[in-house]
Amino acid sequence: MAKKSIRDLDLKGRRVFVRCDFNVPLDADGNITDDTRITAALPTVRHLVDAGARVVLASHLGRPGGERKAELSLRPVAARLGELLGGPVAFADDCVGDAAAAAAGELGEGDVLLLENVRFYKEETANDPAFAKAMAEGAEVFVNDAFGTAHRAHASTAGVAAHVGECAMGFLMERELKYLKEELESPARPFVVILGGKKVSDKIGVINALLDKADTILIGGAMQYAFRKAQGHAIGDSYAVDEDIPVAEELLGKAEAAGVRLLLPADSLEADDFSDDANTNNISPYAEGGGIRDGWEGLDIGEKAIGEFCAVLADAATVVWNGPMGVFEIDAFAKGTRAVAEAVADSGAVSIIGGGDSVTAIKKFGLADKVTFISTGGGASLELLEGKELPGVAALDDA
Ligand code: 3PG
Repeated sequence: MAKKSIRDLDLKGRRVFVRCDFNVPLDADGNITDDTRITAALPTVRHLVDAGARVVLASHLGRPGGERKAELSLRPVAARLGELLGGPVAFADDCVGDAAAAAAGELGEGDVLLLENVRFYKEETANDPAFAKAMAEGAEVFVNDAFGTAHRAHASTAGVAAHVGECAMGFLMERELKYLKEELESPARPFVVILGGKKVSDKIGVINALLDKADTILIGGAMQYAFRKAQGHAIGDSYAVDEDIPVAEELLGKAEAAGVRLLLPADSLEADDFSDDANTNNISPYAEGGGIRDGWEGLDIGEKAIGEFCAVLADAATVVWNGPMGVFEIDAFAKGTRAVAEAVADSGAVSIIGGGDSVTAIKKFGLADKVTFISTGGGASLELLEGKELPGVAALDDA
C-alpha cells in the first residue's frame, strides 16, 4: 500500500516532527567528513520551511548506547545544516523534556530546530512508548525522511507515529522507495544485479529475493570464494567461512533451477600481502584448472572476469549494485571495482547503487553523477531489496 507523502500535507503553521538520518561520519576532531546525508534531507526541510511549518528535526548519531556522549552530539550537524540551508538552525541539547519543549515552543513559521541525539536515551532503541510520546509532544505532523534508519523499529522512527495525528514520508524516503522498491517491481530487462561484500550469509536474503527477478547476478568481493570453494576450486588463504560454503552451494542450485545466470568471476587477482606493496598475480581461469595458491589470497577479480562482467553490464537495462568487487580502498586491488563502476556508469541502464561500500567506491572513482540513484541507506537498502517491510515506513499513514 502506498504511503502518504509530504506532498499531501497541509503544513502552514503546524509543528512537524521530522525524523532524519543525520548519522554522518566524523573525524577524530568531530568534523563532519561526508555531509551526503544532510544534503539528502534538504528537499524535505526546504519544503517545510517554504510552506511555513514549524520544523523540529530529530536524528541519531552513532551508537551511544543510551548514554550522553559529547563526541556524538548533533550540534555540528545543526551548524552544517544551517550553512546548507542558508538560514539559522536552532539546537536543543535534549530531544525530550523542558529544553526540547522550550526550543520547539519558540519556533515561528518556517523556523527550524534540531534536537540532540535521540540515542542518548536507551528508550529510543527499545521503542519505549512513553519516550515516543514525550518526543512527539506538541507535534501535529510526523514526517519520516530517515530512510537509512527505516529498518529500525525505534521510538523516533516508528513509535512516534502512534502519538501524532498525521504521518507521512519525506521526499528522500519517497525517492529511496521509488528506486529500491517500485522500480524493481517490473524492471526494464535485462536486469543485472552486482553483489559483493564479505559474507554470503549477509547477502543470502537479497540473493533469494532477486533470484525471482534478476536475469543475471554477478558475484564479486570476498563472498565469491565461498562459491568457488563449494565448487571444489583452490582458494588459498582467501576469506571464506565454513558456514558460508553450504549456503553458497544451495544458492548455486537455486539459481540453476530458477534459470538465473549467477556469474562468478572467471579468475582472480591473488596477492601475498594485504597492502599496496604486495606481489600480485592474475591466476588462470578457474574453469581451466586455475586456483589461488596457499599463502596467497584473492583480493580482486581477475582480467577475464572484468571483461565478462563489463560485457554483461554493457547490455543491461536495469542495474542494482551492492558491494565492491575487491579491496578497492587499496589501489593495487581496485581495478575490478573501478572497471565495474565505469561499466555501470557507461551502461545507459537505470543504475541503482544500493548503499554501503559501493557508494564509497562510486564516489571515489568520480562517477556519482553518472548513475541514476545512490541510496543513503546501508542495512535499510539491503532489507528493502530482500523484500522486507521497513518498520519506519509501515508506521506511516496509507495514502
Ligand atoms: C546507518 O548508518 O546505516 C543508519 O544510520 C543506521 O544506523 P544503525 O545501524 O546504528 O542503526
